[in-house]
Formats: sequence, structure tokens, C-alpha cells
Amino acid sequence: MKIENINHVAVIGTGMIGASMAALFTGNGYSTTMLAFSEQGLERGSRLYDTCFGDLIDKNLVTKDQAERCRKLLRFTFDYSDIADADIIFECVAEKLDVKLCVYENINANCKQFRALASTTSALSADDLAEGMTANRDKLVVAHPYNPPHLVPFVEVVKSKFTKDEAAKTAYEVLESAGRKVIIMQRCAPGFVANRLQHALLREAIHIIEEGLAEPRDIDKALMYSFMPRYTSVGLFEHQDAAGLDLVKSIEDYLLPTLCNGCAAPDYINKLVAENNLGMKTGKGVYEWPEEAKEDFRCRAAAPYLRYFNWDIPSE
Ligand SMILES: NC(=O)c1ccc[n+]([C@@H]2O[C@H](COP(=O)([O-])OP(=O)(O)OC[C@H]3O[C@@H](n4cnc5c(N)ncnc54)[C@H](O)[C@@H]3O)[C@@H](O)[C@H]2O)c1
Repeated sequence: MKIENINHVAVIGTGMIGASMAALFTGNGYSTTMLAFSEQGLERGSRLYDTCFGDLIDKNLVTKDQAERCRKLLRFTFDYSDIADADIIFECVAEKLDVKLCVYENINANCKQFRALASTTSALSADDLAEGMTANRDKLVVAHPYNPPHLVPFVEVVKSKFTKDEAAKTAYEVLESAGRKVIIMQRCAPGFVANRLQHALLREAIHIIEEGLAEPRDIDKALMYSFMPRYTSVGLFEHQDAAGLDLVKSIEDYLLPTLCNGCAAPDYINKLVAENNLGMKTGKGVYEWPEEAKEDFRCRAAAPYLRYFNWDIPSE
């Protein structure tokens, strides 16, 4: 439910993440301003925002009336002075340190009452972002969402060494009030939490291929139909407790010495990249990607998240 003392949310950047975040916040009743850098950027943000709601309407998660009500909460601007009274600011601009730091200087010059400045960066460290700021370092957090943030509930809030608890708490509470499942990391580490887990799994999956033990299709089958579905309703550690930690210990002592501990992209990936088989965008990667397979993938990728749709859509 919307937090009473958060009256104005600002979203800087009108790309994929910015538009999706604006959909999320207006969808949960927050007056939201998107700051664009060009007419084209504004048009793109507006189109992407409408697409978010169009998809939700198609899936019967939101009615047209509700979408119109949410749209009324959205403003666009090119001018930082229009977000001077924002209570929280989500920075969703290109993944370049200098671009983000330039935005922070403009925020510092214009915005006087924000309690948290949350960067949606995928990979930049909260320490590096804060160190480049000339003021308000204590209000900077990373709030790393998964794409698209209006559908995928998880967000990891990461503190820098300068961040005050109050700023992390504000980001946490605002995101949670919009139905997100949020964690706070007390200090930054590459990949935050979820990508560390994801890439540890990928490293072993590629190791299995390189060892000639199984093909990619069979590894995907193993994941989709063995333990992955379990983890949408119970946690990894809950499951280990259920199995018994004595059993976990004996499996780990026997198995871990055989797992991959490589520390760079493996030859399997290097070879595909060298051949320009980059995946969907070149039509071939690990798999072949004809147009119809791409669309089928997009639908299947979004499907598991629809059950989490839980917005508190404003009633008037
Ligand atoms: N796309 C994802 O899957 C994803 C997931 C999680 C986090 N993120 C992060 O969210 C942030 C935004 O990503 P996105 O996917 O929305 O990107 P995008 O390219 O769709 O949008 C980037 C936005 O930055 C703006 N911008 C401002 N100054 C710019 C400049 N000098 N150069 C380029 N762009 C400039 C653009 O106008 C645009 O509005 C990035 O930090 C990204 O790493 C992306």
C-alpha cells in the first residue's frame, strides 16, 4: 500500500527500465514524474509506459479504466526543477558511470528534499557511484531490479560505505509498498546477490557441456523439471533444512571437488562469441532463433511472473 509521506516519485530516464518503473509506481498510486533528455526520449518513454499497461490489459490483470487512472498520475518533464520536491528519485539512465554522475550533479543542484536516490544500475558499484558524487552521498543506494521491474518482484537494494540506514530504509519501504520483494545488501559485491547465484549455476551448466556429460537441451530440461519449480515456493535453505544438513554435508564433501571453479568466461562461450553466434540478436547462439521461437520465448519468460501481480491500483 502507498506510503503516506511519499508524495512524489521521480524517475530519471525514459528507457526500458525507467518506463517500467514509472508503470510500477503509478500502478501503485504514486504521483510520478519521468525526466527525459530529448523529445525522442520522451516519446519512447511514453510508448514503453503504454505498452506495459497494454500488456497488463491484454492479460486481464488491469482494466482500461484502471490504466487511465494510473496514467493521470504520470507527468513528463525535461526540467530538473519539476522534480525539486521529489521524495525519492530512481535513476534509470544508461549504464555509464559518467552519465549517471552528471545526472546526480543535476539532482544535487535542483532537488532539495529527496530522502533516497536509487540507481537501477545492473553492475556499477554503489561505492563507485557515491564516491563520484559531490553531495548527498549518504542518500545514494543501488536498487537493482530485474527486467521488467513492473512484473518481476525482486529488487536488491545495495548500500555504499556512505549510505545512511534511513536512505536504504526509504528505498526498501517504497519498493515494498509497490509490491516488490526487496532485500538490503549491507555492502556492494559484483553481481549483487541474484546474479552471483545465476552465474554460479551457469558456470557449472557450461562445465557439464564441456565435460561431455549432457547437451544444453538436457541441462535445460533438468533445470525446468527438477529443482527450479520448487524454488518459486520454498527457499534454498528451507529445502536444505528439510533434506537434513548431515546429508548436505556428505554430498558437498563428495561433489564440490568435481565442480567448476573457473574464474573467466569458459571456452564454450568464447568460441560462440568469436563466431558471432551471440544468441537471439544474431539468430543463433547456443540454440537457433527463428522469429516464431523469439516470440514464444518472450511469452514463456513473462508467464511465471504474472502470478505475482499484486499492485494496489488507485481506486480514484
Ligand atoms: N535492461 C535491463 O534488462 C536492465 C535490468 C536491470 C537494470 N538495468 C539498468 O537500468 C538502467 C537503464 O537501462 P535501460 O535498459 O532502461 O536502458 P535504455 O537504453 O532503455 O534507457 C537509457 C536511458 O538513459 C538516457 N540517457 C541519458 N543520458 C544519456 C546518455 N548520455 N547516453 C545514453 N543514454 C542516456 C536515455 O535517454 C534513456 O532514457 C541501466 O543502468 C541498466 O544497467 C537494465
